[in-house]
Amino acid sequence: MSARVLPELIKKDDPVKPTYYITTPIYYVNDNPHIGHAYTTILSDVLARFKRSGGHEVFFLTGLDEHGQKVQQAAEERGVDPQKHCDEMAPRFLELWEKLHIEYDDFIRTTEPRHVAVVQQVLQSVYDNGDIYEDEYEGLYSVSEERFITEKEAESGEFRDIKKLKEKNYFFRMSKYQQQLIDHIKSNPEFIQPKHRKNEVLGFLKQQLEDLCISRPKSRLNWGIELPFDSDYVTYVWFDALINYITSPGFASDDKRFGKWWPANMHLIGKDILTTHSVYWPTMLMSAGIALPRSIFAHGWWLSGETKMSKSLGNIVDPLGLIEDFGVDPVRYYLMREMVLGQDAAFTMESFIKRYNSDLANDFGNLLSRVSNLIQKFFDGKLSENEDESNDGIEVKSSAEETIRNVNACIDAMKINEGIEETLQFIRGVNKYMEKTAPWKLVKEDAAAAGSVLRTAAEALRIGSLLLEPVMPNRTKIVLETFGSTSNDISWGGLSSGFVIKQHDILFPRIDVKKMEEESSSGKQELPEGIIPYEDFEKVDLQTAKVVEAEKVEKSDRLLKLQIEIGNEKRQIVSGIAEYYTPEELIGKMVIVVANLKPATIFGIESHGMLLAASNKKELSVVTVSGDGVATGVKVF
Ligand code: ME8
Ligand code: MG
Repeated sequence: MSARVLPELIKKDDPVKPTYYITTPIYYVNDNPHIGHAYTTILSDVLARFKRSGGHEVFFLTGLDEHGQKVQQAAEERGVDPQKHCDEMAPRFLELWEKLHIEYDDFIRTTEPRHVAVVQQVLQSVYDNGDIYEDEYEGLYSVSEERFITEKEAESGEFRDIKKLKEKNYFFRMSKYQQQLIDHIKSNPEFIQPKHRKNEVLGFLKQQLEDLCISRPKSRLNWGIELPFDSDYVTYVWFDALINYITSPGFASDDKRFGKWWPANMHLIGKDILTTHSVYWPTMLMSAGIALPRSIFAHGWWLSGETKMSKSLGNIVDPLGLIEDFGVDPVRYYLMREMVLGQDAAFTMESFIKRYNSDLANDFGNLLSRVSNLIQKFFDGKLSENEDESNDGIEVKSSAEETIRNVNACIDAMKINEGIEETLQFIRGVNKYMEKTAPWKLVKEDAAAAGSVLRTAAEALRIGSLLLEPVMPNRTKIVLETFGSTSNDISWGGLSSGFVIKQHDILFPRIDVKKMEEESSSGKQELPEGIIPYEDFEKVDLQTAKVVEAEKVEKSDRLLKLQIEIGNEKRQIVSGIAEYYTPEELIGKMVIVVANLKPATIFGIESHGMLLAASNKKELSVVTVSGDGVATGVKVF
């Protein structure tokens, strides 16, 4: 990596550091942050920490996407003004970043005046270039995606809330830059990563690129940045949001700072927003005459079962709960270790606990306990002056040096999980070294030799901790403090001699799965009165059914005996609605029944299910399903 510091910024006595500018997506504030947001932000933080420790001057940007329909809708649903909604949501993200120990350099919100000014400036210059034109457009619009979609996209089934719209709007001549973009992608293999995503974008670019609708009439949506050339319109949320990446480093307000950081080295994103970043964004920059970012890296999805975790699907994991239960470092570790960058990964508590117990408690934590206990027990806590010069000791040292090289190569290649595994393999090797040399036995024959084995193991722990520090900045500190290591120099031999090691807490207390299950089942009883978990609701099988026959039950004023059709099945239900309905009124009605209710005998008549009805004791109305097209036996939820 070469330095991109402008010459006039370098003071004579300043050692020139290469710079590294990394960004996360700016997240929508339509809901609380979830594990997906936590993931990308932790990943950026880990990369930023690696770069910092490798001697780079780092600028790490994250933030919030506060305009557009999604946010306006969320605010409307809560009955608050959109700005107030954003102001209430922002602290939730900030709190999570603090809890996750995210060391960002800037947190941008798109409603800030500094951003509004830059968006309007970019719009004006693209407009002045003749790359924005007005046109009437009629097409299919996906409300959930906030954009016009093609017929083909509509048929794909991937878009929700589709409606036909005819509107006058402003369009960005994206098509004009199609070839230039293709050329850029082809001649800069680092531009879109991983490779299969690059190919995906090139595939997409084989078709004629359409121009991009970049305005929304205020009559339909007013929560956005006003177009500088037409006050009846606001800016399309993506044209607004992407610009955050240049607002933050000082575009149009601080040339020196902007020149220092831009172009960004890395836009980290999820694969859901690949097109906006690798097609919209570069063409916008081309039109505005601004350099393109060096790399866009799209990672895969965290899945819950087979499906993506997402706010709209409601199957998300709350990162705050995980941190509370297991601590921040294990959460960071799991997310970084478990996902192969570029592929999807399944989030399960089972694999979380497995990783925690095997890698962290057994391998890493156990090594620290062993080494520090033995030094306490046999050497009054004092570190030996000498390293183990035997073949086994030299092997540990050379394995440490190889691990450092391999980890660095993995990080440069964006193979975070492999880099972590390299370090863990090294730590496992040191555990084997301990077993082989058995200093607890050796001490009886040759105390000095045992001391030097322990010093070599302690040095190995120091190296392992420094390599894991970007991932687990807190617990690794415990290891470093235990051995009094203050140097961040990641080369063998950094431990000082004669140090009396410190007492430490257990690094990673084992997770007792049995105990956790007990706690979580007792946790269920702690729900507030009258509140049931979703799983309880899910047990109720509600289905549509048609009443085909109905008659009064003899000797009862209240009961009717109904024959219903539910899918291919015929059933008999006894229902206490005779005071409100005549049998004739019910025949042909499409109703909702609880299909999996335990059968009961009422007045000697078998009843197989239950009908839903609304009642205040005086009046009663059977719940019916309208619409002719509905079949019986259809699930209701
Ligand atoms: O798209 N697995 O915001 P957003 C992994 N505001 N990562 C996930 C994930 C999952 N299941 N779910 C979300 C937006 N993410 C726009 C971005 S940028 C100029 C504007 C992460 O709140 C992942 O990084 O929907 C994904 O790209 C991002 O959250 C989308 O966040
Ligand atoms: Mg999204």
